[in-house]
Amino acid sequence: MTEKRQFRAIKGTRDILPPDSALWNWFERTAREVFETYGFAEIRLPIFEETEVFARAIGAETDVVGKEMFTFPDPSLLDDGRFVSGWQKLKELAIAYDPGRDTMTAEMREQILSQSRVWALAAHTSILWSLEDAVKNLSSLRPEATASVARAYIEHGMHTLPGNVKLYYAGPMFRRERPQKGRYRQFYQVGAEVLGHSDAPSIDAEVLEMLLVLFGRVGLTNTRLYVNSIGCKDCRPKYVELLRTELQKVKDELGPDSQRRIETNPLRVLDSKLPEEQPIIETLPRISDHLCADCREHFAKLKDELKLRGIAYEENWRLVRGLDYYTRTTFEVTAAGLGSQNAVCGGGRYDGLVELLGGPPTKGIGFAIGTDRAILSIQEGSNLPKLPGLAVYVAWMGAKTYPTAVAIARKLRECGLGVELPPEEMKFKKSLGLADKLGARYALIIGEDEVASGTYTLKRLADADQKKLNENDLLEYLESERRSG
Ligand code: HAM
Repeated sequence: MTEKRQFRAIKGTRDILPPDSALWNWFERTAREVFETYGFAEIRLPIFEETEVFARAIGAETDVVGKEMFTFPDPSLLDDGRFVSGWQKLKELAIAYDPGRDTMTAEMREQILSQSRVWALAAHTSILWSLEDAVKNLSSLRPEATASVARAYIEHGMHTLPGNVKLYYAGPMFRRERPQKGRYRQFYQVGAEVLGHSDAPSIDAEVLEMLLVLFGRVGLTNTRLYVNSIGCKDCRPKYVELLRTELQKVKDELGPDSQRRIETNPLRVLDSKLPEEQPIIETLPRISDHLCADCREHFAKLKDELKLRGIAYEENWRLVRGLDYYTRTTFEVTAAGLGSQNAVCGGGRYDGLVELLGGPPTKGIGFAIGTDRAILSIQEGSNLPKLPGLAVYVAWMGAKTYPTAVAIARKLRECGLGVELPPEEMKFKKSLGLADKLGARYALIIGEDEVASGTYTLKRLADADQKKLNENDLLEYLESERRSG
């Protein structure tokens, strides 16, 4: 007999339920509207890509690629001869199972004997393949979308399009991080990217203006914008070497993560939040003192542009970001009400990323907003939008009134109103009680008298104000109510 189980969403994933989902839709809708006023158009991307796309773009040594991706083999490998024989061996082991001797647990044995080969493939890929095969045949759920946008830009020859290519996206991303408030394994981003031939600082500034216009529109006002420049392929390597040398001198005072990063990625040491490392980090050389002339000028012009546009910002020399593709401008926005996970948006310039993925020389800049965090911050603030809910509950009673109720409900819906028509007859009192519980603004009362006279009672549920209206006046009244919000 099948075991009785209660299923729950997997750790780090969650369901977005009504009424929150309405707030999410409104947020994403507003983002689309704002982005489109800046000439951006939507790109819909796959949710998984070849692992190599992310490894190359984001960097194999980053936490995101090194530790956090959900990676899986191509299912066609189920037909691979080596896998088939490995799987056969595993089955034989399970059949000859000896609990005293085998490392296999009883549960694993049960799984192997009863489940499909897919399960075994997932569990045993690494034993059965060479590393080379594994790399070629792996896909990953996207941990972010900039790499995919760059891949799509190359694949579709978008460099031949006129002007800068401005794209936005919205959707789920996946990172195997430790879940906590504002940090999930399936989370959502709304992002925008500009790719093309120009790296003018005015592009960076316009992208930031667009972001802050959106935050203003959705009532995310308690935000702070931090900006930095992390140099280019000419000046950054020299700075990184200098940083490494300086870090070697204080290595013993640093924790294991930072010690490891001295070798793998010294810039990331600047990201450390460990209190005991802060005084040491403060003494380290700063990138702003080591930018080449072009990068210094680019950063200075960006700051002038931000002033021109009235955008408040703070410089933060430690803002290096966790993804390797950045050059020059980096930025982050923090918002209130989020605790330690307070970065609501991150982004920056990534000139050279397209080349790294095999495309033509291309400049790029963009950002991604963490939708989960933006929504949390909006919910914690005082600017929650009033979203239209259920407008009219049609309380009909008496079998003869039903056809009229169906017809009126359809006409109201055609006017764009949210209407609930109870599928079965109910007593008026019960019906009105349900209308209240569902949060309807109005109850439309349709009894046999109303049908006979052609006038209906519209009851406003907030204050029990009642109006008697014929069908035309009713539609007109509710339509104008809807328009005035
Ligand atoms: P990111 O800083 O890794 O940048 O992510 C952007 C935002 O996504 C973060 O500021 C945060 O709000 C949200 N986020 C990241 N991880 C999680 C998580 N585990 N749970 C909830 N929210 C999360 C990027 O992804 C770059 N692709 C941004 C970019 C676009 N740069 C240039 N263009």
